[in-house]
Amino acid sequence: MMKMLTDSDIAQMIERVRGSRKYAGMDLPAATVEDLIRQEIAVGKNPKEVEKSMREKLHQIIAPYLGDPDYPREEENLQKAAAAGDEAIKNWCLHMLSVHTSSKERIPYIEAFYQTIFERIGKPRSILDVACAFNPFAFPWMELPKSTAYHAYDLHSPRVDLINSFFKVYEMEPLAETKDILLDPPTVQADTAFFFKEAHRFESRKKGCNRIFWISLPVKTIVVTLPAENLTGQHQMRNRQRSLVEKNIEGLNWSVEETEVGGEMIFIVRK
Ligand SMILES: C[S@@+](CC[C@H](N)C(=O)[O-])C[C@H]1O[C@@H](n2cnc3c(N)ncnc32)[C@H](O)[C@@H]1O
Repeated sequence: MMKMLTDSDIAQMIERVRGSRKYAGMDLPAATVEDLIRQEIAVGKNPKEVEKSMREKLHQIIAPYLGDPDYPREEENLQKAAAAGDEAIKNWCLHMLSVHTSSKERIPYIEAFYQTIFERIGKPRSILDVACAFNPFAFPWMELPKSTAYHAYDLHSPRVDLINSFFKVYEMEPLAETKDILLDPPTVQADTAFFFKEAHRFESRKKGCNRIFWISLPVKTIVVTLPAENLTGQHQMRNRQRSLVEKNIEGLNWSVEETEVGGEMIFIVRK
């Protein structure tokens, strides 16, 4: 008979993964790891397979291959930049954007990217940047006032702490939070949500979860972006991405407007 995982086995598996060399220091939400484990148990996998598949899914979610800085060193660099003023902070932000593939790809078009979005939705006074990674460091190019309520969410605590440090030295409210937005979606009302380059990964974590997540977001517009090509640039993904967005809003009385800047497909979803 197949061995069943008890609650205590699950608790040990969670701590084994959270404390492993790969994820130590990230302080990942235990609920995320537990959700992945229970999802694998539900499809009848044995304990070994459960742990293997859960680790594979977690790797895709955290995506370490997209890039990470040395966080304590960048905190020091930020404080040095802060002593020199806003221009130095902006240079530090540019460096941080270049550390992570998702934001690095956007650097050549960064001003056009935000202009294109704000021409369509107006300048937001409050933003939910969900699964944000380093995108909040693009704030100096958004041409928004520092009074903007910028709520940023990510699973990765060192990232979130560095974003809050940046908000503080840039005289903004430190509104970044560590949480799994899929298990615990934001409840703060805002003008818009940025959901950049992550919906396709959400879909692999749990098929159809984008729809439930988008419905839950307390905003008027959701700006969903997706890469038009894969990371190596060898495969065009426009049709697949378009159909992901269309399927997720099917039957809802929402509209979607599509545009593209620098190989990033932008879908303005109006609720
Ligand atoms: C591909 S990056 C997205 C980068 C960013 N949105 C951008 O386009 O510049 C994915 C980020 O989402 C975070 N993430 C993935 N799933 C998440 C979840 N369920 N809740 C919160 N953050 C999540 C990861 O930790 C990672 O920092």
